[in-house]
Amino acid sequence: MKVFKSIEAIRVFLAAQRNKQLKIGLVPTMGALHEGHLSLVEKAKEDNDVVVVSIFVNPLQFNKKEDLDKYPRNIDRDMKRLRDAGCTSVFLPAVGEMYQSQESLLRFDVGYFDGIMEGKFRLGHFAGVALVVSKLFNIVDPDNSYFGQKDLQQLVLIRTLQKELNFRTEIVNVPTKREMSGLAKSSRNERLDESELRTAANIFKGLKLLESKILSGVYLQNAINEVEEFYNEIDGFELEYLEVVQTDDLITIREYKSEIETSICVAGYVAGVRLLDNISIYKN
Ligand code: PAJ
Repeated sequence: MKVFKSIEAIRVFLAAQRNKQLKIGLVPTMGALHEGHLSLVEKAKEDNDVVVVSIFVNPLQFNKKEDLDKYPRNIDRDMKRLRDAGCTSVFLPAVGEMYQSQESLLRFDVGYFDGIMEGKFRLGHFAGVALVVSKLFNIVDPDNSYFGQKDLQQLVLIRTLQKELNFRTEIVNVPTKREMSGLAKSSRNERLDESELRTAANIFKGLKLLESKILSGVYLQNAINEVEEFYNEIDGFELEYLEVVQTDDLITIREYKSEIETSICVAGYVAGVRLLDNISIYKN
């Protein structure tokens, strides 16, 4: 497995691959890799000849310094997981390689995304994501790039970025990997003990409950109220938001229509750990 720490080195390597007409796939990550990340690598391997996994804990997307400091880092374990998954190239830049100064002087205005769901609660987060992902697209120039459905708002932001800035890459979304309990895999789950993990599994239960209420024709606002109540009754869970939106642009839905692709998004805290999930509603 080749590990590149400099932009120059990975560019030279990828130019040679492109010259051989090989297809390049990019999987951007911040490390602390789990099966969710590895499912992106798996999909990327199916579609491409060369798979680049980037590992970079991007300081710009953390709105609290303590979150950045607390972010799990375990590069040896990540490398082993990537090797076992058959990954061949890793891009592992230091902060100084990605940003001229400790903080970039450039800021994206992601207006719309800052005003809804995750953006409202994590100001500056999506501007940081937009900047680093644009940089990765420019450095790697991938044919395909892989993002998890788990972070739906990030996915919609990146699709918008790709269209508006005319990046050549295709954006591929990969379904959310879950624990047996339904809990979405996340590096943050490592901070929960057994009983907190059981509490956290209710997040997915609530999503499925809302889905079944909506599909059985309960008036949308009533269905949302009932599931908010379900969440509020869970000991040790603090709901932050529950939203029903159009999957494509995240606009809030007032009345469910089966012809519009719809997603249910939720965020909340278990034992001080902020957890995030969503599902798309399908009529069987
Ligand atoms: P990170 O949180 O490391 O996630 C990297 C990718 O893995 C994202 O596309 C995310 O949606 C996906 N992912 C996480 N958990 C998943 C799961 N359970 N199932 C499927 N996919 C999952 O998201 C970021 O990093 C950063 O914001 C990044 C895009 C790398 C920019 O810094």
